Amino acid sequence: MSLTDDRAALDQWYTLGALQDFPAGAEVPSRLLGEDLTVRRLTDDVEVRAAGRALPVRTDYGHLWTSFGTPERDLFELPESREPDRRWIHCGPVRVRASGLRLVENFLDLAHFPYVHTDILGSEAHPEVARYEVEQRRDVDELWATKCEFYQPKAAAASDEGQISKYMYRVVSPFNVMLYKTPPTAPDRWDVIALFVQPADEAVSVAHAFMLVIDLTSTDAELSAFQQMIFVQDKIVLENQRPSLLPLQPGRETPTRADLSSVLYRRWLKEKQLRFGTEPRTDLQSTDLPHA
Ligand SMILES: [Fe+2]
Repeated sequence: MSLTDDRAALDQWYTLGALQDFPAGAEVPSRLLGEDLTVRRLTDDVEVRAAGRALPVRTDYGHLWTSFGTPERDLFELPESREPDRRWIHCGPVRVRASGLRLVENFLDLAHFPYVHTDILGSEAHPEVARYEVEQRRDVDELWATKCEFYQPKAAAASDEGQISKYMYRVVSPFNVMLYKTPPTAPDRWDVIALFVQPADEAVSVAHAFMLVIDLTSTDAELSAFQQMIFVQDKIVLENQRPSLLPLQPGRETPTRADLSSVLYRRWLKEKQLRFGTEPRTDLQSTDLPHA
């Protein structure tokens, strides 16, 4: 497989990982959208090259970002990254054999908590997803799900009892998503848990989980281990999901009320005419197919 010709996918920012994973002087191979890349960290500078071409680079939020195309917008805003009492936790890259869009959709899903993260993020005795709200914020081109609530036996590393967690979800680009969640020890603030997905190939992704949390007691290792344990449970489900590419064809999968955010996400991807990581569609005439 070689670099995709999907314009909608090319014109986005993608992370290749946390900056700390690229040691100065070393040349690190990477992969994005079906193409091999080389990352070279110089003293104050990072260089990303693909097929002899230098790609644009950003180093915001402790991560290395690049693009093959011309993104319409600069990187998303993350105001919490400027708050001095936030802990920055990088949970390390995890390779997943599934479309990156599947990873984002799974991240948005509240209904799987009791079954996939049993007795941690959900309990089989409380499987209901309460009504929540979704909106497409066109000024920033982001999707938001708000007023989400869920009973969680162990909501975070620092939890010593169950709580009703409040959540907000924010999709800032097709492969980058974050959630805001009430910390056990600071009910008036929001922890930020981000999932930056590096779509290496259509059905192979690298997940970079990143947290900006309020937690005075847990160690970095405990915070990271909690998130990794959760993500390993998701990885098993994601790698067994069929098809491994995201279906955008109407009627392919039947949504319920709990899937409001997934319905909006899929509609937004269709509006963008994004194809990378989606199942080939047969409901479009060949003349309707988005061209690169
Ligand atoms: Fe999950």
